[in-house]
Amino acid sequence: MKNVLTDRMLDFIAASPCSYFAAANAAWRLDEAGFTRLLESQPWKLTPGGRYYTMRGGSSLIAFTLPKTGLPGFIITASHTDSPAFKLKQNPHLPGKAYVRLNTEKYGGMLFSSWFDRPLEIAGRVLVRTVEGGIAQRLVELPECPVVIPNVAIHMNRTANDGAKLLANIDLPPIFAPGGAEASALALAAEAAGAAEADVLGHDLLLCNRQPGTYLGAGAPWIGSPRLDDLECAFACLEGFLSAPESASAQVCCLFDNEEVGSQTRQGAASTLLRDVLRRVCEGLGMGEADYCRAVAASFLLSADNAHALHPNHPEYADGENCPVMNGGVVVKFNAAQHYTTDGVSAALLESVCRDERIPTQVYANRSDLPGGSTLGNIALTQVSLHSADVGLAQLAMHSAFETAGADDPAHLVSLSRALYARTLRQSDHGGWTFQA
Ligand code: CO
Repeated sequence: MKNVLTDRMLDFIAASPCSYFAAANAAWRLDEAGFTRLLESQPWKLTPGGRYYTMRGGSSLIAFTLPKTGLPGFIITASHTDSPAFKLKQNPHLPGKAYVRLNTEKYGGMLFSSWFDRPLEIAGRVLVRTVEGGIAQRLVELPECPVVIPNVAIHMNRTANDGAKLLANIDLPPIFAPGGAEASALALAAEAAGAAEADVLGHDLLLCNRQPGTYLGAGAPWIGSPRLDDLECAFACLEGFLSAPESASAQVCCLFDNEEVGSQTRQGAASTLLRDVLRRVCEGLGMGEADYCRAVAASFLLSADNAHALHPNHPEYADGENCPVMNGGVVVKFNAAQHYTTDGVSAALLESVCRDERIPTQVYANRSDLPGGSTLGNIALTQVSLHSADVGLAQLAMHSAFETAGADDPAHLVSLSRALYARTLRQSDHGGWTFQA
């Protein structure tokens, strides 16, 4: 049902049309909370009890809070800032007699049909030459100039409802201006950045659905919004991080870009970003290499990315016994091929916390003949090897321009995130593990 936390999450998503804005909005919240921003290219002066964050690529962010004494291990959450969208090419116009269209390619695997016939906003960043001759990043959005990808009328394509094959180069360029018009998307982006078009040296601009989130259904049990995958988890993990009590562990909140294109980028989960931050934290606190290994071995990572809820019209796609529902609580994901990081040990650790804190959980596994999706946890673990579990919140229509999820679920992930941050992972001399509150 309607609640203040979910309202705030929908506001966060509405203010974050793409990964650059999501990371900037997270950074703004951290600034407000008194965190110190660190640049990767400069030395870090860290003090016990300090609160810091750093960004890479303008779209990934890691925030961390240090314990007042010692560093037994790291408690980490990871989610992603990006969502599928269309990205403008360097020469972004397709001139024509009747229309100027935009030349785009797809970023991530979206459900094409959901992107037709709705206003799409151009948003992202431009890199502009400064007066001093340097280069500065400016976030831009063009709310005055929404574009649209028009469907073909049913009268002209009678088989449109029989399952159409859609091609990104033929069917999906949006119309931008009438044919012969002088309009330039880059000139408008430059103007929005307060720069001359000639001073725009680079750009990353996407088409984003700016439809605001809303409650759905009788009694408002559900929410509909663009980008619930994965800004719902990103918001909930950050919220848990910012409201967590002091802990003996270092608390780390990771927001990674580029999950939707496989994470293998400079700032993605497959990059060295997390490892570099953890190493620099240890070094900054005067710890050696062996201390780093010891701390990582006693660490836990919660990989949070949304999960598929039981579909009302197509329940046959789900495993009947391992399928979550919206508002059923935090979904713990399992996969024998290890695309999800949850194993017996991490599932047990997570379950112990959820029982203590009365956080409802449910489980997800793919129907056994379907490959399912991928996420960022197992990719991050190739750089830093630690205990990890995959979770998410149940949603419908993943990668649609407008997705549906449970209105009560964000609170459950905030509770889990906060509960984990309050704990420290300890190993007994016999090898067993406890999450100490
Ligand atoms: Co996702």
